[in-house]
Amino acid sequence: MRHRIDVMHGVNFDVLGNRNSAHYGGVTLTELEVKIKAFARGLEMEPSFSQTNHEGDFVERLHRAGESADGLVLNPGAWTHYSYAIRDALEVTGLPAVEVHLSAVDEREEWRRTSVIRDLCIGCVQGKGVDGYREALELLKGHLT
Ligand code: DQA
Repeated sequence: MRHRIDVMHGVNFDVLGNRNSAHYGGVTLTELEVKIKAFARGLEMEPSFSQTNHEGDFVERLHRAGESADGLVLNPGAWTHYSYAIRDALEVTGLPAVEVHLSAVDEREEWRRTSVIRDLCIGCVQGKGVDGYREALELLKGHLT
């Protein structure tokens, strides 16, 4: 069975290619998703993608995630650090989730070191750039198999 993975990007990922390349590698969201698709193909997993700048949309997608996904790869961007609404919605899904960050959030500003979703996730991958998403998919595969 091919595991279906919902890869959810949050706020400011639509302009990823314009963001600080020292942290985010200069990759666009489209390029990132092409890479994730290739990682998923190699792992025989089936990814779907979403991005929004609206917290409520992210929350509602989480509410529906169980209808079409077996696991989640979440990079909520800045919401990671303070959105209790997203945390509560994630708890409702009950799906295994991996938190991913392109940059090493625990080594950046103090405020980025807080994650309000981390303890609900089966793992967190950070500071590994695009390759971090492969690791996240591998973690989910190990968990779901
Ligand atoms: C990020 C890290 C967050 O602190 C930041 O707000 C982002 C991107 C990352 O992938 O490194 O938007 O989630």
